[in-house]
Amino acid sequence: MKVAELVERFTTALAGEADEYAHKAAVAVVNELKNDLDGVADAVSYLTGSGGNALQAFYRAPNLSLLKVRFPNGRRTPPHNHGTWATILVLEGSERNSLYKRNDDGSLTYERSLDLNAGDVVFMPADAVHVAECTSATPAIGLHVYGGNVLGLERSMWDPDTLAEHELDWSKYEGLAQRASAASGAPLA
Ligand SMILES: [Fe+2]
Repeated sequence: MKVAELVERFTTALAGEADEYAHKAAVAVVNELKNDLDGVADAVSYLTGSGGNALQAFYRAPNLSLLKVRFPNGRRTPPHNHGTWATILVLEGSERNSLYKRNDDGSLTYERSLDLNAGDVVFMPADAVHVAECTSATPAIGLHVYGGNVLGLERSMWDPDTLAEHELDWSKYEGLAQRASAASGAPLA
């Protein structure tokens, strides 16, 4: 599969959908792609880098972002939201997703953790907060699909130690990610 085909499958699926159904169309495409994990991994193999940074985005529009996200062993994100719905298809390796509820005062309540392996799909609504971490010896690589321009939306990140909510600021994100990675597990989990 070529990356252009991957982009086209999502853009075509979302083209005729009202905003409120766009996530269902995206999840349907992700579920089809489960049958060709190697093809998807191959299509995005040219993208380098780790985390969820701009280098790994291969499509960004006001209603859709597509990223390859690679978490090496030992890497854990701070709690964060996406400012829109998100769905992840794990392509290689394993990752744990810990899910939280954001309370009205900005504090977090831990809900549950999901262990995902290659071929697994997770969907997160727009109000979801999560921590993702690699649980395999090899990097966890996933296709991440978001219902907006995920690198431009208003988003929050939480300090992994104090759990104070901050506006997502990429210049400060890496420091939080390093402290999150040094911890023994996801906060409150
Ligand atoms: Fe995320």
